[in-house]
Amino acid sequence: MSRVFVSADELLAHLRYLGEMLSSESDAFTELEHGLQTAALLATVAPHDSELHIAGLIHDLAHPWDGPGQPKHAVMGADAVRPLLGNRVADLIAGHVPAKRWLVTRDANYRAQLTEDSIMTLAAQGGDMSDAELAWFESLDSWQAMVELRRADDGAKVPGAITPGLDVYETPIRMRASLGTT
Ligand SMILES: [Fe+2]
Repeated sequence: MSRVFVSADELLAHLRYLGEMLSSESDAFTELEHGLQTAALLATVAPHDSELHIAGLIHDLAHPWDGPGQPKHAVMGADAVRPLLGNRVADLIAGHVPAKRWLVTRDANYRAQLTEDSIMTLAAQGGDMSDAELAWFESLDSWQAMVELRRADDGAKVPGAITPGLDVYETPIRMRASLGTT
């Protein structure tokens, strides 16, 4: 079941719920830990891009709503936060699946680094990009940030990794929500 968040409080409550849910990819960490690791990695590669950190934190927030292979979770997650957090955060979330397909197509070493689960879901997500799809993706405003999010996503699967907690992101989320849709 999909939904749309109407307040930062609602979104933060959902993120806490993800802290009690094991990752769809591993029993060794929670969905929230995966998001926190993604955000922490993005903070090192793009320290001033708060919207990218938020998008990394919440990019898989729709995992509980999607089905096997998670074919729709990126779009569902983007739709859920677009009214609250604006178009760029939503687009970054929507972009993390096409970014995986872009990397698989453009980077010969990338596929070898994917986990078994990630290779399986790739087929459900569309597989390699065609030339037209590559041109479309590279025309998007934030496509390079989407690729950064994807690379962080792939590195954010370390059991027991120590990261900043959810509290670090509460103020940035509330500040972004107060700006409305831009
Ligand atoms: Fe992820």
